[in-house]
Amino acid sequence: MTADRTKILRRIEIDRVSIGMYLEDVFDKDGVLLLSANAAIQSEEQITRLRARGVYSVYINIRKGKDIDLEEEAPDPVSVERERAYYEELARARVVHQNTIISAKEALQAARAGRPFSINRTRKTAEEIVESILRNPDALVSLSQIKGYDEYTFTHSVNVGILVTSLAREMGYEGEQLVSIGLGGLLHDIGKMRVPENVLNKPGRYTDVEFRVMKRHPDHGLAIVGERSGIAPLTKKVIGQHHERYDGSGYPKGLIGDRIDEAGVIGAVADVYDALTSDRVYRSAWTPQKALATIFQGCDRDYSRRVVELFTRHLGIYPVGSFVKLQSGEMGVVIRVSRGNLLAPIVLILFDKTGKRITEPLEMNLAEYEGTPSESAYRIEMSLNPKAFRVNIADYIQDKATGGIA
Ligand SMILES: [Fe+2]
Ligand SMILES: [Fe+2]
Repeated sequence: MTADRTKILRRIEIDRVSIGMYLEDVFDKDGVLLLSANAAIQSEEQITRLRARGVYSVYINIRKGKDIDLEEEAPDPVSVERERAYYEELARARVVHQNTIISAKEALQAARAGRPFSINRTRKTAEEIVESILRNPDALVSLSQIKGYDEYTFTHSVNVGILVTSLAREMGYEGEQLVSIGLGGLLHDIGKMRVPENVLNKPGRYTDVEFRVMKRHPDHGLAIVGERSGIAPLTKKVIGQHHERYDGSGYPKGLIGDRIDEAGVIGAVADVYDALTSDRVYRSAWTPQKALATIFQGCDRDYSRRVVELFTRHLGIYPVGSFVKLQSGEMGVVIRVSRGNLLAPIVLILFDKTGKRITEPLEMNLAEYEGTPSESAYRIEMSLNPKAFRVNIADYIQDKATGGIA
């Protein structure tokens, strides 16, 4: 499905219809067609006529015509501003995302071949990530939820780079510190390039010997970047400590509690989240909900609670890009999350109550149903794996301004 063929529908009350909006077919209660979907509303009379025929609400196609006034829709100026910044940033974030993939790939492939690579170029990418996240964190983070466009190790490195940067920013890191942590995220698994490929890509369980080989990758990573000058301590903490665990059960050093640097914990949480939500040779991707719940269970055992709590709050329970099922049975993709209301995001409905795929996706703001009789039907019941329903999430993370596709 392409953006051009995708309708984005919004249900609104008749009183909010204005000239320039494209309405879907409108019928009266007897099923008589009052207005067909082919033209925009051109006069107030058309609206009055619909109202007179007992029409209370209609669907508008906001991809084709005018939308409702969002300022009026969401009186909270912070969320309006954030939504605007998100759509503005999405186009730029896409470029940053592409550049990051190229530079991470370059670094990792060079390390695999034992060739030198330009760490300055990788650092430049980390700077671009920081800049994008400072303009608006949601754009790049939502792109990091789209998986499977390249070999796992490359996309995983990019996603961890993005997630550590946005989480660190949420935790109050600034400027150079953010760049250093982000660089650590991008290069956290570079040491895996020294692990033999038959071990690295082994589909089954590791033998003890293989696991011992694998566990050396943080130290290999430190050795690779340690050969360079000017690598910040925070970068090294992410690379060297992202497999350490709060109770000392991690590797390579088995550090306990506060002996693990906060940057190491940030790296660990981002690493595990991205690994669990990606398809692997030995299992398919977990839903964000399941991954977050699992990480949460590891509070005070695997990771410090503070970092986990901030991460969950940061991503939302149902992050952008989650595929969810509502209590009503309808299913769709989370396309926007409101910070103040993590349980009621905006969902693009793709399947109707009977589980049938619908041809015209319908945008539904679950928050609008709160306090109404339909509230319980429009609550999220669970998140599901989109692949099982042949849904490609990338088709739905869209740039409102241009109608492009991520
Ligand atoms: Fe790792
Ligand atoms: Fe990793």
